[in-house]
Amino acid sequence: MDTIAPHGGELVNRILPVDERDQRRVEGLPRITLDSWALSDVQCIGIGAMSPLTGFMNKEDYDSVVETMRLANGIVWSLPITLTINEEQAEKLHVGDEIALEDRHGQIQAVMKIESMYQPDILREAEKVYKTSDEAHPGVAHLYRRPGIYVGGPIRVLERPLGGEFEKYYFTPQETREIFRSKGWKTVVGFQTRNPVHRAHEYIQKAAMEVVDGLFLNPLVGETKSDDIPAHVRMESYEVLLENYYPKHRTFLGVFPAAMRYAGPREAIFHAMVRKNYGCTHFIVGRDHAGVGDYYGTYEAQEIFSQFTPEELGISLMFFEHSFYCRKCAAMASYKTCPHDTEDHVILSGTKVRKMLKEGIMPPSEFSRTEVVQVLINGLRKE
Ligand code: ADX
Repeated sequence: MDTIAPHGGELVNRILPVDERDQRRVEGLPRITLDSWALSDVQCIGIGAMSPLTGFMNKEDYDSVVETMRLANGIVWSLPITLTINEEQAEKLHVGDEIALEDRHGQIQAVMKIESMYQPDILREAEKVYKTSDEAHPGVAHLYRRPGIYVGGPIRVLERPLGGEFEKYYFTPQETREIFRSKGWKTVVGFQTRNPVHRAHEYIQKAAMEVVDGLFLNPLVGETKSDDIPAHVRMESYEVLLENYYPKHRTFLGVFPAAMRYAGPREAIFHAMVRKNYGCTHFIVGRDHAGVGDYYGTYEAQEIFSQFTPEELGISLMFFEHSFYCRKCAAMASYKTCPHDTEDHVILSGTKVRKMLKEGIMPPSEFSRTEVVQVLINGLRKE
Protein backbone atom coordinates (compact mmCIF):
# COMPACT_ATOMS: atom_id res chain seq x y z
CA MET A 1 0.00 0.00 0.00
CA ASP A 2 1.12 3.55 -0.71
CA THR A 3 2.20 5.63 2.24
CA ILE A 4 0.44 8.71 0.96
CA ALA A 5 -2.61 9.24 -1.23
CA PRO A 6 -2.06 11.23 -4.44
CA HIS A 7 -3.68 14.65 -4.65
CA GLY A 8 -7.37 14.22 -5.34
CA GLY A 9 -7.22 10.52 -4.39
CA GLU A 10 -6.09 8.81 -7.59
CA LEU A 11 -2.81 8.90 -9.46
CA VAL A 12 -3.54 10.00 -13.02
CA ASN A 13 -1.87 8.23 -15.94
CA ARG A 14 -2.57 9.82 -19.31
CA ILE A 15 0.00 7.86 -21.28
CA LEU A 16 -1.71 6.12 -24.14
CA PRO A 17 -1.47 2.31 -23.99
CA VAL A 18 0.58 0.89 -26.90
CA ASP A 19 -2.43 -0.81 -28.52
CA GLU A 20 -4.31 2.49 -28.67
CA ARG A 21 -1.53 4.38 -30.47
CA ASP A 22 -2.69 5.02 -33.99
CA GLN A 23 0.08 7.13 -35.50
CA ARG A 24 -1.65 7.56 -38.87
CA ARG A 25 -4.84 8.91 -37.33
CA VAL A 26 -2.90 11.23 -35.03
CA GLU A 27 -0.83 12.61 -37.91
CA GLY A 28 -3.97 13.74 -39.71
CA LEU A 29 -5.17 15.93 -36.83
CA PRO A 30 -4.85 19.72 -36.74
CA ARG A 31 -1.70 20.66 -34.87
CA ILE A 32 -0.75 23.08 -32.14
CA THR A 33 2.92 23.70 -31.47
CA LEU A 34 3.86 23.68 -27.79
CA ASP A 35 6.38 26.10 -26.31
CA SER A 36 8.76 24.56 -23.80
CA TRP A 37 6.58 25.59 -20.84
CA ALA A 38 3.48 23.93 -22.34
CA LEU A 39 5.51 20.86 -23.30
CA SER A 40 6.55 20.54 -19.66
CA ASP A 41 2.90 20.79 -18.62
CA VAL A 42 1.95 18.08 -21.10
CA GLN A 43 4.58 15.79 -19.61
CA CYS A 44 3.61 16.56 -16.02
CA ILE A 45 -0.06 15.91 -16.73
CA GLY A 46 0.74 12.77 -18.73
CA ILE A 47 2.80 11.09 -16.02
CA GLY A 48 0.38 12.07 -13.26
CA ALA A 49 2.64 14.59 -11.52
CA MET A 50 -0.24 17.05 -11.74
CA SER A 51 -2.92 14.63 -10.52
CA PRO A 52 -5.87 15.13 -10.40
CA LEU A 53 -5.53 17.14 -13.66
CA THR A 54 -6.12 15.08 -16.77
CA GLY A 55 -5.61 17.90 -19.24
CA PHE A 56 -5.52 21.65 -19.72
CA MET A 57 -8.04 23.59 -17.67
CA ASN A 58 -11.49 24.47 -18.89
CA LYS A 59 -12.94 27.86 -17.99
CA GLU A 60 -14.71 26.70 -14.86
CA ASP A 61 -11.58 25.26 -13.27
CA TYR A 62 -9.47 28.15 -14.53
CA ASP A 63 -11.72 30.83 -13.00
CA SER A 64 -12.03 28.89 -9.79
CA VAL A 65 -8.25 28.38 -9.48
CA VAL A 66 -7.47 32.02 -10.23
CA GLU A 67 -10.05 33.30 -7.74
CA THR A 68 -10.02 30.70 -4.96
CA MET A 69 -6.95 28.46 -5.37
CA ARG A 70 -9.27 25.51 -5.77
CA LEU A 71 -10.54 23.50 -8.73
CA ALA A 72 -14.26 23.85 -9.41
CA ASN A 73 -14.82 20.69 -7.33
CA GLY A 74 -13.12 22.27 -4.31
CA ILE A 75 -9.79 20.43 -4.46
CA VAL A 76 -6.82 22.68 -3.61
CA TRP A 77 -5.00 23.84 -6.76
CA SER A 78 -3.12 27.10 -6.90
CA LEU A 79 -1.82 27.59 -10.46
CA PRO A 80 -3.73 27.75 -13.75
CA ILE A 81 -2.51 25.05 -16.12
CA THR A 82 -3.56 26.31 -19.52
CA LEU A 83 -2.86 25.96 -23.22
CA THR A 84 -3.04 28.91 -25.60
CA ILE A 85 -3.81 29.31 -29.27
CA ASN A 86 -4.00 32.39 -31.46
CA GLU A 87 -7.12 33.78 -33.17
CA GLU A 88 -6.30 32.30 -36.54
CA GLN A 89 -6.05 28.83 -34.99
CA ALA A 90 -9.20 29.39 -32.95
CA GLU A 91 -11.20 30.20 -36.07
CA LYS A 92 -10.39 26.79 -37.54
CA LEU A 93 -11.03 24.77 -34.37
CA HIS A 94 -14.26 23.82 -32.61
CA VAL A 95 -15.30 22.35 -29.30
CA GLY A 96 -15.35 18.57 -29.77
CA ASP A 97 -12.39 18.55 -32.18
CA GLU A 98 -9.35 16.48 -31.49
CA ILE A 99 -5.96 18.17 -31.94
CA ALA A 100 -2.37 16.99 -31.95
CA LEU A 101 0.11 18.75 -29.67
CA GLU A 102 3.56 18.83 -31.25
CA ASP A 103 6.90 19.97 -29.91
CA ARG A 104 8.96 22.58 -31.74
CA HIS A 105 10.64 19.85 -33.80
CA GLY A 106 7.25 18.80 -35.20
CA GLN A 107 7.12 15.63 -33.11
CA ILE A 108 3.59 14.89 -31.89
CA GLN A 109 3.65 14.46 -28.13
CA ALA A 110 -0.01 14.25 -27.23
CA VAL A 111 -3.57 14.49 -28.45
CA MET A 112 -6.23 16.64 -26.87
CA LYS A 113 -9.99 16.70 -27.10
CA ILE A 114 -11.18 20.31 -27.12
CA GLU A 115 -13.80 20.86 -24.45
CA SER A 116 -13.65 24.64 -24.30
CA MET A 117 -12.15 27.75 -25.89
CA TYR A 118 -12.21 30.97 -23.94
CA GLN A 119 -10.67 34.38 -23.59
CA PRO A 120 -8.91 34.83 -20.25
CA ASP A 121 -8.59 38.08 -18.36
CA ILE A 122 -4.81 38.14 -18.39
CA LEU A 123 -4.46 41.11 -16.07
CA ARG A 124 -6.65 39.45 -13.48
CA GLU A 125 -4.58 36.26 -13.81
CA ALA A 126 -1.34 38.21 -13.35
CA GLU A 127 -2.59 40.09 -10.30
CA LYS A 128 -4.16 37.07 -8.62
CA VAL A 129 -1.55 34.43 -9.39
CA TYR A 130 1.66 36.48 -9.43
CA LYS A 131 0.44 39.36 -7.26
CA THR A 132 1.74 41.81 -9.85
CA SER A 133 1.05 42.87 -13.41
CA ASP A 134 4.66 44.02 -13.84
CA GLU A 135 6.08 42.64 -17.05
CA ALA A 136 9.53 42.58 -15.46
CA HIS A 137 8.29 39.54 -13.51
CA PRO A 138 9.38 36.49 -15.57
CA GLY A 139 6.12 34.57 -15.00
CA VAL A 140 4.00 37.57 -15.90
CA ALA A 141 6.18 38.27 -18.94
CA HIS A 142 5.50 34.73 -20.13
CA LEU A 143 1.78 35.23 -19.57
CA TYR A 144 1.82 38.39 -21.72
CA ARG A 145 3.89 36.73 -24.45
CA ARG A 146 1.50 33.87 -25.09
CA PRO A 147 -1.30 33.99 -27.68
CA GLY A 148 -4.59 35.21 -26.21
CA ILE A 149 -7.07 32.31 -26.38
CA TYR A 150 -7.16 29.41 -23.94
CA VAL A 151 -8.14 25.94 -25.06
CA GLY A 152 -9.09 23.32 -22.48
CA GLY A 153 -9.67 19.59 -22.47
CA PRO A 154 -8.24 16.20 -21.53
CA ILE A 155 -4.99 15.04 -23.11
CA ARG A 156 -3.42 11.68 -23.88
CA VAL A 157 0.35 11.51 -24.17
CA LEU A 158 1.62 9.24 -26.93
CA GLU A 159 4.55 7.73 -25.05
CA ARG A 160 6.13 7.80 -21.64
CA PRO A 161 8.38 10.88 -21.79
CA LEU A 162 12.05 9.89 -22.01
CA GLY A 163 13.63 12.79 -20.17
CA GLY A 164 16.24 13.61 -22.84
CA GLU A 165 19.60 14.43 -21.31
CA PHE A 166 18.16 13.67 -17.85
CA GLU A 167 16.74 10.26 -18.72
CA LYS A 168 18.75 8.60 -15.93
CA TYR A 169 16.96 10.81 -13.41
CA TYR A 170 13.51 10.92 -15.03
CA PHE A 171 10.82 9.06 -13.11
CA THR A 172 7.07 9.02 -13.19
CA PRO A 173 5.26 9.42 -9.86
CA GLN A 174 4.25 5.79 -10.13
CA GLU A 175 7.93 4.87 -10.41
CA THR A 176 9.14 7.07 -7.53
CA ARG A 177 6.41 5.67 -5.30
CA GLU A 178 7.62 2.18 -6.13
CA ILE A 179 11.25 3.19 -5.51
CA PHE A 180 10.50 4.75 -2.11
CA ARG A 181 8.55 1.62 -1.18
CA SER A 182 11.40 -0.65 -2.24
CA LYS A 183 13.81 1.40 -0.11
CA GLY A 184 11.50 0.88 2.85
CA TRP A 185 10.97 4.63 3.27
CA LYS A 186 7.72 5.33 5.04
CA THR A 187 8.36 9.07 5.23
CA VAL A 188 10.01 11.02 2.42
CA VAL A 189 10.75 14.72 2.29
CA GLY A 190 10.61 16.38 -1.13
CA PHE A 191 12.95 19.24 -1.96
CA GLN A 192 12.21 21.63 -4.80
CA THR A 193 15.10 23.60 -6.22
CA ARG A 194 16.05 25.60 -9.27
CA ASN A 195 19.50 26.42 -7.92
CA PRO A 196 22.66 24.56 -7.05
CA VAL A 197 22.42 23.11 -3.55
CA HIS A 198 24.36 25.52 -1.37
CA ARG A 199 25.17 25.01 2.30
CA ALA A 200 21.90 26.61 3.43
CA HIS A 201 19.91 24.19 1.26
CA GLU A 202 22.01 21.30 2.55
CA TYR A 203 21.43 22.41 6.12
CA ILE A 204 17.64 22.48 5.85
CA GLN A 205 17.56 19.22 3.89
CA LYS A 206 19.64 17.47 6.53
CA ALA A 207 17.63 18.98 9.36
CA ALA A 208 14.57 17.46 7.68
CA MET A 209 16.38 14.16 7.15
CA GLU A 210 16.82 13.89 10.91
CA VAL A 211 13.07 13.27 11.16
CA VAL A 212 12.13 11.41 7.97
CA ASP A 213 13.39 8.22 6.31
CA GLY A 214 14.57 9.69 3.03
CA LEU A 215 15.21 12.81 0.96
CA PHE A 216 13.84 13.15 -2.56
CA LEU A 217 16.02 15.81 -4.17
CA ASN A 218 13.75 16.89 -6.98
CA PRO A 219 15.30 19.75 -8.96
CA LEU A 220 13.13 21.51 -11.48
CA VAL A 221 14.63 21.12 -14.96
CA GLY A 222 11.96 22.74 -17.15
CA GLU A 223 12.31 26.28 -18.41
CA THR A 224 13.85 28.77 -15.99
CA LYS A 225 14.76 32.41 -16.49
CA SER A 226 17.86 32.95 -18.58
CA ASP A 227 20.12 34.03 -15.73
CA ASP A 228 19.40 30.96 -13.59
CA ILE A 229 22.10 28.29 -13.74
CA PRO A 230 21.31 25.84 -16.59
CA ALA A 231 19.81 22.54 -15.48
CA HIS A 232 22.56 20.32 -16.91
CA VAL A 233 25.21 22.21 -14.91
CA ARG A 234 23.09 21.98 -11.78
CA MET A 235 22.53 18.25 -12.26
CA GLU A 236 26.27 17.70 -12.28
CA SER A 237 26.60 19.76 -9.12
CA TYR A 238 23.91 17.67 -7.37
CA GLU A 239 25.77 14.50 -8.35
CA VAL A 240 29.06 15.60 -6.74
CA LEU A 241 27.27 16.89 -3.68
CA LEU A 242 25.34 13.66 -3.10
CA GLU A 243 28.42 11.59 -3.81
CA ASN A 244 30.53 13.42 -1.23
CA TYR A 245 28.20 14.58 1.50
CA TYR A 246 24.96 12.54 1.62
CA PRO A 247 24.26 8.98 2.74
CA LYS A 248 23.38 7.05 -0.42
CA HIS A 249 20.72 4.88 1.16
CA ARG A 250 18.77 7.90 2.39
CA THR A 251 18.78 10.15 -0.67
CA PHE A 252 17.24 9.90 -4.09
CA LEU A 253 17.73 12.28 -7.02
CA GLY A 254 15.06 12.66 -9.69
CA VAL A 255 14.15 15.56 -11.97
CA PHE A 256 10.95 17.56 -11.91
CA PRO A 257 10.18 18.36 -15.57
CA ALA A 258 8.00 21.45 -14.96
CA ALA A 259 8.70 25.02 -15.97
CA MET A 260 9.43 27.58 -13.27
CA ARG A 261 6.72 30.21 -12.81
CA TYR A 262 8.32 32.32 -10.05
CA ALA A 263 4.83 32.65 -8.56
CA GLY A 264 6.17 32.49 -4.99
CA PRO A 265 3.42 31.53 -2.52
CA ARG A 266 1.04 30.04 -5.08
CA GLU A 267 3.83 28.05 -6.65
CA ALA A 268 4.86 26.70 -3.24
CA ILE A 269 1.41 25.11 -2.89
CA PHE A 270 1.68 23.71 -6.39
CA HIS A 271 5.17 22.35 -5.66
CA ALA A 272 3.92 20.64 -2.52
CA MET A 273 0.91 19.01 -4.22
CA VAL A 274 3.07 17.70 -7.04
CA ARG A 275 5.62 16.22 -4.62
CA LYS A 276 2.76 14.49 -2.83
CA ASN A 277 1.95 12.86 -6.15
CA TYR A 278 5.55 11.69 -6.44
CA GLY A 279 5.03 9.96 -3.08
CA CYS A 280 6.53 12.46 -0.65
CA THR A 281 4.96 12.67 2.79
CA HIS A 282 6.78 15.92 3.66
CA PHE A 283 7.81 18.99 1.73
CA ILE A 284 10.33 21.72 2.53
CA VAL A 285 9.49 25.40 2.18
CA GLY A 286 12.27 27.77 3.19
CA ARG A 287 12.78 31.46 2.62
CA ASP A 288 11.19 33.13 -0.40
CA HIS A 289 10.26 29.82 -1.99
CA ALA A 290 9.86 30.14 -5.80
CA GLY A 291 10.28 33.88 -5.45
CA VAL A 292 11.98 36.37 -7.68
CA GLY A 293 13.02 39.98 -7.02
CA ASP A 294 11.02 41.62 -4.24
CA TYR A 295 7.56 40.54 -5.32
CA TYR A 296 6.90 38.34 -2.27
CA GLY A 297 7.56 38.54 1.44
CA THR A 298 10.31 36.27 2.80
CA TYR A 299 7.88 33.86 4.46
CA GLU A 300 4.76 34.46 2.39
CA ALA A 301 5.18 31.09 0.67
CA GLN A 302 4.90 29.49 4.12
CA GLU A 303 2.05 31.61 5.42
CA ILE A 304 -0.20 30.86 2.45
CA PHE A 305 -0.58 27.23 3.56
CA SER A 306 -2.56 28.35 6.61
CA GLN A 307 -5.48 29.07 4.27
CA PHE A 308 -6.02 25.31 3.97
CA THR A 309 -6.60 22.48 6.41
CA PRO A 310 -3.90 19.82 6.84
CA GLU A 311 -6.42 17.27 5.54
CA GLU A 312 -7.02 19.03 2.24
CA LEU A 313 -3.28 19.58 1.73
CA GLY A 314 -2.52 15.96 2.62
CA ILE A 315 1.26 16.50 2.88
CA SER A 316 3.21 17.73 5.90
CA LEU A 317 5.01 21.00 5.39
CA MET A 318 8.43 21.61 6.89
CA PHE A 319 9.04 25.34 7.15
CA PHE A 320 12.55 26.69 7.58
CA GLU A 321 13.87 30.10 8.53
CA HIS A 322 16.52 31.87 6.53
CA SER A 323 19.66 29.77 7.07
CA PHE A 324 23.34 30.66 6.74
CA TYR A 325 26.78 29.92 8.07
CA CYS A 326 27.61 31.89 11.23
CA ARG A 327 31.30 32.53 11.92
CA LYS A 328 30.73 32.96 15.66
CA CYS A 329 28.66 29.79 15.96
CA ALA A 330 31.17 28.15 13.58
CA ALA A 331 28.20 26.27 12.19
CA MET A 332 25.20 26.50 9.94
CA ALA A 333 22.35 28.25 11.71
CA SER A 334 19.24 30.30 11.15
CA TYR A 335 17.66 33.40 12.63
CA LYS A 336 15.77 30.99 14.83
CA THR A 337 18.90 29.49 16.38
CA CYS A 338 21.69 32.06 16.09
CA PRO A 339 22.09 34.98 18.54
CA HIS A 340 24.88 36.75 16.62
CA ASP A 341 24.89 39.81 14.41
CA THR A 342 24.37 39.74 10.66
CA GLU A 343 27.99 40.65 10.02
CA ASP A 344 28.97 37.24 11.40
CA HIS A 345 26.73 35.54 8.84
CA VAL A 346 27.90 34.41 5.40
CA ILE A 347 25.02 35.48 3.18
CA LEU A 348 25.34 36.02 -0.57
CA SER A 349 22.58 36.88 -2.98
CA GLY A 350 21.92 34.60 -5.95
CA THR A 351 22.90 37.39 -8.32
CA LYS A 352 26.21 37.95 -6.52
CA VAL A 353 27.02 34.23 -6.54
CA ARG A 354 26.25 33.88 -10.24
CA LYS A 355 28.50 36.87 -10.97
CA MET A 356 31.33 35.34 -8.93
CA LEU A 357 30.97 31.98 -10.65
CA LYS A 358 30.94 33.57 -14.11
CA GLU A 359 34.17 35.40 -13.23
CA GLY A 360 35.69 32.17 -11.95
CA ILE A 361 35.78 33.43 -8.35
CA MET A 362 35.12 30.75 -5.71
CA PRO A 363 32.37 31.67 -3.24
CA PRO A 364 33.57 30.82 0.31
CA SER A 365 33.33 27.17 1.35
CA GLU A 366 30.98 28.27 4.16
CA PHE A 367 28.55 29.27 1.44
CA SER A 368 28.95 26.39 -0.98
CA ARG A 369 30.89 23.12 -1.01
CA THR A 370 34.16 23.40 -2.96
CA GLU A 371 33.26 20.41 -5.16
CA VAL A 372 29.97 22.07 -6.10
CA VAL A 373 31.62 25.40 -6.86
CA GLN A 374 34.17 23.70 -9.08
CA VAL A 375 31.46 22.03 -11.15
CA LEU A 376 29.59 25.33 -11.47
CA ILE A 377 32.63 27.32 -12.53
CA ASN A 378 33.62 24.70 -15.11
CA GLY A 379 30.02 24.37 -16.35
CA LEU A 380 29.45 28.08 -16.71
CA ARG A 381 32.77 28.57 -18.44
CA LYS A 382 31.58 26.20 -21.19
CA GLU A 383 28.27 28.08 -21.64
S1 ADX B 1 13.17 27.84 -5.57
O1 ADX B 1 12.76 28.88 -6.50
O2 ADX B 1 13.22 26.54 -6.15
O3 ADX B 1 12.37 27.91 -4.32
P1 ADX B 1 15.85 27.61 -4.47
O4 ADX B 1 16.32 26.50 -5.33
O5 ADX B 1 16.86 28.64 -4.13
O6 ADX B 1 14.64 28.34 -5.18
O7 ADX B 1 15.26 27.08 -3.11
C1 ADX B 1 14.92 25.78 -2.84
C2 ADX B 1 14.28 25.70 -1.44
O8 ADX B 1 15.24 26.11 -0.46
C3 ADX B 1 13.10 26.60 -1.24
O9 ADX B 1 12.17 25.97 -0.36
C4 ADX B 1 13.67 27.83 -0.57
O10 ADX B 1 12.71 28.50 0.21
C5 ADX B 1 14.75 27.21 0.30
N1 ADX B 1 15.89 28.11 0.57
C6 ADX B 1 16.77 28.63 -0.32
N2 ADX B 1 17.73 29.33 0.30
C7 ADX B 1 17.47 29.29 1.62
C8 ADX B 1 18.09 29.82 2.80
N3 ADX B 1 19.21 30.53 2.75
N4 ADX B 1 17.51 29.56 3.99
C9 ADX B 1 16.39 28.82 4.09
N5 ADX B 1 15.76 28.28 3.03
C10 ADX B 1 16.28 28.50 1.80
